[in-house]
Amino acid sequence: MEKLKVLVVDDDQMVRDTLYQLLTQIAGCDTELAETGKDGLEKIQKEEFNVVFTDLTMPEMNGIDLIKEAKRINPYLPIVVITGYGSIDNAVNAMKEGATDFITKPFTIENIMEILNRIKTEPKLIKEIGVEKGSVNLNFLNLALYKKYLSISLLQEVSAELDELYDNKKVYDKVVELGNKLLDVKGTAFLMFENGKVKMRKCIGNMEKFSLSHNNFFSEFFGEGQKPGVFKKTIPNLGQVSNYTEILFAPLTINGEVFGGLVFNGKNDGSGFNEEDIAIANTFAKKVSLRIENNALYEVFYSNLVSTLKSLIISIEARDSYTKKHSERVTNYSLQIAKVLGLSDEDIDVIKFGGYLHDIGKIGVKDTVLLKPGKLTDEEFEEIKLHSVIGDNILKPIKFFPKERELIRHHHERYDGRGYPDGLGGEEIPLTARILAVADTYDAMTSTRPYRKALDHSVAIEELIRCSGKQFDPKVVEAFLECDAGKGIKTEI
Ligand SMILES: [Fe+2]
Repeated sequence: MEKLKVLVVDDDQMVRDTLYQLLTQIAGCDTELAETGKDGLEKIQKEEFNVVFTDLTMPEMNGIDLIKEAKRINPYLPIVVITGYGSIDNAVNAMKEGATDFITKPFTIENIMEILNRIKTEPKLIKEIGVEKGSVNLNFLNLALYKKYLSISLLQEVSAELDELYDNKKVYDKVVELGNKLLDVKGTAFLMFENGKVKMRKCIGNMEKFSLSHNNFFSEFFGEGQKPGVFKKTIPNLGQVSNYTEILFAPLTINGEVFGGLVFNGKNDGSGFNEEDIAIANTFAKKVSLRIENNALYEVFYSNLVSTLKSLIISIEARDSYTKKHSERVTNYSLQIAKVLGLSDEDIDVIKFGGYLHDIGKIGVKDTVLLKPGKLTDEEFEEIKLHSVIGDNILKPIKFFPKERELIRHHHERYDGRGYPDGLGGEEIPLTARILAVADTYDAMTSTRPYRKALDHSVAIEELIRCSGKQFDPKVVEAFLECDAGKGIKTEI
C-alpha cells in the first residue's frame, strides 16, 4: 500500500510532536507539520495530501476557516478535526463545514489507526455505491454522516456517563441500559467469565429469557480458541420452534484476555445487525472494558491507601495506650447510628473510612500535650483543637475523599454552634460528623483515661441525653439510644 501523505495543523507543539511520532513512526505515514491555519493552507495549495489533521483554535487562521478554504481547493480532501474532550459541539460545527471526522484529546494510536483505515477504505466505499467523483450523491452522504454523528455523540455521552461510575455494580446496571439505547435493541446482557463459568451480571428486556439457561448457552462464546471480536449468531428463539433470533456478542477484554462480554438481541426496527452495529458494539465494549479495568486499578490503589492510612492510625493510637482501638470503636458505633437513621451507602462508606481516620490530625500534636495526664492549659487545649484541621489537611492532596475530609474537619462542631474549628451549627454540620460526635464522646466517656476511670454505660447515656440539643443533634442521640451500643450491648468489631 502506498504511503499516506498527512498534514498536521496545530499551534500546540506537543500535539504536533505527538501526532508526528504516531503518524510517522507507528502508522508509517509521510507527515508534514504546520503551526497555523495559514501555513497549513499554503501547504495544501502546493501539495496533495491524503488527509489533514487540524486543530480548531489557532492564530492567523482558525480550523473552520482552514476547512472552508481547503475544501475550495479540493472538496474531497479528508479533514480530521482535533478537539478537546467534551467539546463535541465544536466538532459537529466543523463537520457541518465539511470536516470528515474528529478525534478527541488525549488520543491513542488506536484512534489514529482507526481514522487512517477509514480514510483508506472510504474512497472504495464511494466507488462501491456507484458514485463517481464529481457527482457525489450528497443525500446519501448526508444521511450516512448524520447517522454517524448520532452514533458518535451517543457513544460520547455513554463514555461520559461510564466515567462517573467507580462501583462495578452500578456499571453493570448502566451498561445494559445504555446498550439497549445505543444499539436500539430489545435486550442487552452483561456477562462475566469467572473460573471457567459464565455469570450473567445483569440483563434487561428480552435477554431475561436467557438468564436461566445462560451458562450452557453463552459458554461457547468463551470457548477455547475463541478469538476476541464481535460476532453475530442466529439461534432458535426460545419457546418457539420455528422462529430464529439473531444475537450480537461483543467481548470485554483486558490486555487481550476475554473476561466477559456484552450480548445484544432483537433490533427494535426488526432488521438484522449490520456492520455499523458491530462497530458500535465493539467500541462500546472497549469503553466498558476500560471502565472495568480502571475500577480494578482504582480498587487496588484505594485499598493500599486505606491500609497505609490505617497503619498510621494504629501508630498514633500506640503512642497513647488509653486510646487504643478508639477509632475502631467510634466507627462501629457511628455505623450503628447510621443504620438506624437510614443513611445512603455512600455516606456509610464515608463513615467507614472517615470514622477510622477522624483523629489522624493528632499526628501533628506534641506528645507532651497529647499524653498529658492532668488537666490541659488553655494553650494546650488550643493545640489539641488543631487536630481536626490538620486531619483535613492531611487528606487534602488526595482528591478522592471530599466527604471524609468534611467529617474529619467537623467532628468537634457542636449542634449549638459553639464547637470548633468553624463554629458550624445544626444542619450546617455534615450529618456524618454529627453522628461521629455522639459516638466519639460516648467512647471517650466509657474508656479509662490516665486521670479518671471509665464511666458506666448508664452515666454516659445520661450525659448524652443531657447534652442533646446543645452539644449533639437530638435526632442522632435518639438513634444512638435505639442501636445496640446505646442499649449497652457489645458487638464484635
Ligand atoms: Fe477528635
